[in-house]
Amino acid sequence: MAQQPSFKTVFVFLDTDKYCSPFDMLVAIDVFPNSMIFKYENVTGEDAPKIVYDLLFPRGPIGAQHTKIFINGSNFDMVNEVVAATQKCMASAPWGNSIIVDPRGAYSTAAGAVAKTLGLSLEKGFGALEGKNVTVLAGTGPVGQTAARIYASEKANVVITSRTMAKGQAVAEKINKEAGAQRVKVVEVTKPEQTALAVKDAEIILAAGAGGIQLLSAGDLKAAAKCKIVADINAIKPLGVEGLGSNDDGKELASSVFGIGALAIGKLKIKIETEMIKRATEAPQGLFDYYIAYEIGKAAILKKLAKPKA
Ligand SMILES: NC(=O)c1ccc[n+]([C@@H]2O[C@H](COP(=O)([O-])OP(=O)(O)OC[C@H]3O[C@@H](n4cnc5c(N)ncnc54)[C@H](OP(=O)(O)O)[C@@H]3O)[C@@H](O)[C@H]2O)c1
Repeated sequence: MAQQPSFKTVFVFLDTDKYCSPFDMLVAIDVFPNSMIFKYENVTGEDAPKIVYDLLFPRGPIGAQHTKIFINGSNFDMVNEVVAATQKCMASAPWGNSIIVDPRGAYSTAAGAVAKTLGLSLEKGFGALEGKNVTVLAGTGPVGQTAARIYASEKANVVITSRTMAKGQAVAEKINKEAGAQRVKVVEVTKPEQTALAVKDAEIILAAGAGGIQLLSAGDLKAAAKCKIVADINAIKPLGVEGLGSNDDGKELASSVFGIGALAIGKLKIKIETEMIKRATEAPQGLFDYYIAYEIGKAAILKKLAKPKA
C-alpha cells in the first residue's frame, strides 16, 4: 500500500513592514517546535497572489492544509490589502488554507486587554461591557483601535483620544460604520491637561499608547470619579498609567478602582495568539483575526470566572 506523505507544518509570514517581527515567529515555533518558517517582507497586495499561489499548489490539497499563512505588519490598510488579495487567491484556487492575521500582535493584545477588563468587571460585580463608558487613551494605534472596535462590538460607549482630531475621527468613523451605530466618539488630547475631560465619565479606561509614554497621571485617575477599572498595555517605562505596575492584575489602586498592567495583559495575549495558531493549524481553511482572538480571550476569562474558588 502506498504510504501517505507526512507533511511538516510550514508557516509563511507575509509582512507588509520592511522587517518581519520575530515576536510572532517565536510564538509559532513554540507552538510547533518542528515547524518551518518562510518569511517575506515589504509584501503588498500586488505581491501576495504570486506567493500565495506558489505555496498552495506544490503540496496538493492535504499539504496546503499544513501550510499556514500569517499576515503581519504595522499599517492596517496595507495588512487589509494583503488579507483581501490572499482571500481572493483562495477563492479562485481549487483548494485553500487558513490565514492568521495578528498585525504586530495588535489583535491578540487588544483582545487580551478587552477580555481582561471584562473579566475584572464581572469579578468585581460591575457587570458586562454593554452600555459601559469606556475610554481608550491613544485609541488610534493598531492596538488601541482594535480594542475600541471590540468594545464597540460589545455595545460599550467608547471614547478614543488622539493628539490629532482628524486621525481620531477617521478611526471612529470606520468603526461606527462597521458597527452600524455611533458607538465611538473622539476627544482630542494635545496637552496632558485635556486628558481629564476624556476620562470624566469613563467606567473603564484602557491606556493604549506607544511604548514609554505616560498617558494618565495619578491626579487624572483620581479625578475620574466613575472609573472602576484601569488597564495599561505599555510595558516600557515610563508606563502608561501612573501608579499602575506592569504585573498588577486586579490590584486595588484606590477605593473600588482596580488596575491591570501590561504584563498581566501580555500573559493572556500569548495564550490567545497560541490558540489562534493552533486553531488555524487544525482548520483546513478560514480567517483567524481579531474576532477569533477576542472569542478565545473572552472564553478563557469566562471559564476562569466559572471555576469555583479553592
Ligand atoms: N502588553 C502586550 O502584550 C503588548 C503587545 C504588543 C504591543 N504592546 C504595546 O501596546 C502599545 C500600543 O501599540 P501600538 O502598536 O498600537 O502603538 P503605536 O502605534 O506605536 O502608538 C499608539 C498611539 O500612541 C499615540 N502616541 C504616540 N506617541 C505619543 C506621544 N508622544 N504622546 C501621546 N501619544 C502618543 C499615537 O496616537 P495619536 O497620534 O493619535 O495621538 C499612536 O496612534 C505599545 O505600548 C506597545 O508596546 C503591548
